[in-house]
Formats: sequence, C-alpha cells, structure tokens
Amino acid sequence: MSVRRSVVRGVGHHLPERVVTNDEFAQRLDTSDEWIRSRTGIERRHFAAEGEMTSDLALRAAERALGDAGLEADALDAIVLATSTPDLTFPSTATKVQADLGMTRGFAYDIQAVCAGFVFALANADMLIRTGEADRVLVIGAETFSRILDWDDRSTCVLFGDGAGAVVLEAAEGKGDAGDRGILAVDLHSDGRYRDILYVDGGVSSTGSAGCLRMQGREVFKHAVVKLAETAEAALGKAGLTPADVDWIIPHQANLRIISATAQKLGLPMERVVVTVGEHGNTSAASIPMAMSVAASEGRLSPGDVIVTEAIGGGLAWGAAVLRW
Ligand code: ACO
Repeated sequence: MSVRRSVVRGVGHHLPERVVTNDEFAQRLDTSDEWIRSRTGIERRHFAAEGEMTSDLALRAAERALGDAGLEADALDAIVLATSTPDLTFPSTATKVQADLGMTRGFAYDIQAVCAGFVFALANADMLIRTGEADRVLVIGAETFSRILDWDDRSTCVLFGDGAGAVVLEAAEGKGDAGDRGILAVDLHSDGRYRDILYVDGGVSSTGSAGCLRMQGREVFKHAVVKLAETAEAALGKAGLTPADVDWIIPHQANLRIISATAQKLGLPMERVVVTVGEHGNTSAASIPMAMSVAASEGRLSPGDVIVTEAIGGGLAWGAAVLRW
C-alpha cells in the first residue's frame, strides 16, 4: 500500500556568537567547572546578544536548512516553530520568520511543549504532510532561554543555552513499511500533574511578566530516565522496529547522564548517540534539530539510517519520533 511519508530534505542550525564557559559562572557564583561538567556534561553554551531574538536565530537556521534542501522559501507550504521563548506574546515567532524569509504563501504557527517542543512540532508537521495539507514543511526549534534564567540560581542558570535548528520535511511516496524513508512513527505524552517540578514563574495572564525558570532538578531527572526510554521503545514498536535496528539516537540535550542512562536502557552504545550538550548546553526545543544538523554536517548520517529522537521537558511533556534518514 502506498502511503505519504515526511522525508528530511535539509537541515541547518545557528548558534549566537557569544560563548560562555563554566568558568565564567564560577567567577560570580558558588559553582565550578568540575561540578557542572561532572553533573551535566556541559562545558560551554552560547547566549544571544542584547537585542538578538529567538526569530533571529530561527531565521539563520531556516536559511541554512532551505539552502541544504536547495529550496526557496516560497516552495514551503508551512512553518511549524517550537519555542517557549517567543519574541512576543503574539503574533507567533513563526510568522516573523515567515516574513523574514520572504515567504508570501502558506501558513506558519508556533508550538509550545518546552524541551519536547521539537518532537511535538515534528509530529505535527508529519500529520500536515500525511493528510495532504502540506507537501513541504519547515520545522524549527528555536530558543533564547537566557532570557528566563535566574542568574542567582546556580542549580538552573548553568544548564541552559540559546540556539536554533531547522529541518525541511517533504512528502514522498512510501510502501507503508519500516523500510520507507522519512518519519516512521511518533509517540507523544504529557502529564500536567507534574507541571510544578519544571516551570516559569511568570506569564501573561498570571504575573504579566516573563518570569524565571524554576526546577526541581532531581525530580525531573528521575522522570527523564524512565520516560525517555519508554517513549523511544514505544515509537520504535509503532514503526515495527526494535532498538537493535537503531543507527543513531539524537536525544534532547539536557544532561549527559540522562542521555547515557537512556542509551543504556535501550541497550545502545554511546557511539550511536549524537551528543552536543557539552558545547550547546540545554537549548530546549532547539537541541534536537541542532544536534541533527551537527551530525549531518559531520557526515555521520547516511541515507537509510534509522534515527530515534526523544525529549522530555516542562509539563511534563515528552515523546519520541523514529525516522529513516
Ligand atoms: N554548582 C555547585 N553546586 C550545585 C550547583 C552548581 N551549579 N547546583 C546545585 N548544586 C548543589 C545543590 O545546592 C546541592 O547542594 P546541597 O546538597 O548542599 O543542598 C547539591 O549540589 C546537589 O544538588 P542536586 O540538585 O541534588 O544535584 P544533582 O546531582 O541532582 O544535579 C542537576 C543537579 C544537574 C540539575 C540534575 O538534577 C539534573 O540534571 N536534573 C535534570 C534536570 C534537567 O536537565 N532539566 C532540564 C530541563 S528538562 C529537560 O530538558 C530534561
């Protein structure tokens, strides 16, 4: 049976220029490079310059993904942009990127599922393609988490970074089996009972201000190591595959210990995991497409490779997607 599949045609990413090392934090907080490295794997992160917005990072990543795909912006039918740090409350950051790209047709909107945002956006874009609503969709994850950090809270401000990644998806005919290229399955979850363990203490209809990120790190950690392996296995099961079929895990880059615990649970060696957390920190919805773009630019992803992406974040919201490169 012939089915429509969403195949990756191009990828790209962009990081702001300013690099901040762990030592910079140690100069003004009671922390150390050793503590941050050993607990998280993070060595440095990038922070946006004053006046540099989420849409600016997204635009550069989008241009690179379109360049990689060999497409003009007007070849796109839609932009789906995942972010928790939009330029403005409204309109969506996606419509800003649409205008900045010079795209005068189609439609664009944001999705907010915090660190799981890219997986939700990918799933959403895949549905647009599979239902025939769109043939080409640009999926972007873009964040400026530096804008919502409490610089006096050493347990959170050292963890995050800014950046953007983008993927161009294009419709292709597949056979409907696990040998097809493109997105093979997704698995999405949320459980709002846990919304208090990771949240921002401000917002439009509550405080009228942007607020700062608050987190019970140990609690989030415990959920992450269980739920990420479960959702990855569930997505693989839906695709008719097992962990043994996986060539690459491209996980949300929150913490090296979470990444390696998940790989271990799936029975996969770290050689099959794309790790960028050391260089990027946790960039929330941007982390997976940035890691995908880095791996692609290094020539690590080959046509036909099976890739699993998985992410968890505030909500809690979590999920996974399986695709064949
Ligand atoms: N430098 C030095 N000491 C610190 C720092 C720091 N930057 N941050 C916290 N500590 C201290 C704490 O104050 C605590 O001290 P105490 O024992 O005197 O009270 C001690 O270190 C241990 O604190 P814990 O929070 O228990 O440390 P833990 O080993 O759990 O590591 C961490 C903390 C890295 C946040 C970990 O819990 C974690 O990674 N959790 C996952 C959270 C995460 O990655 N969230 C990102 C968003 S969600 C996601 O993307 C998955």
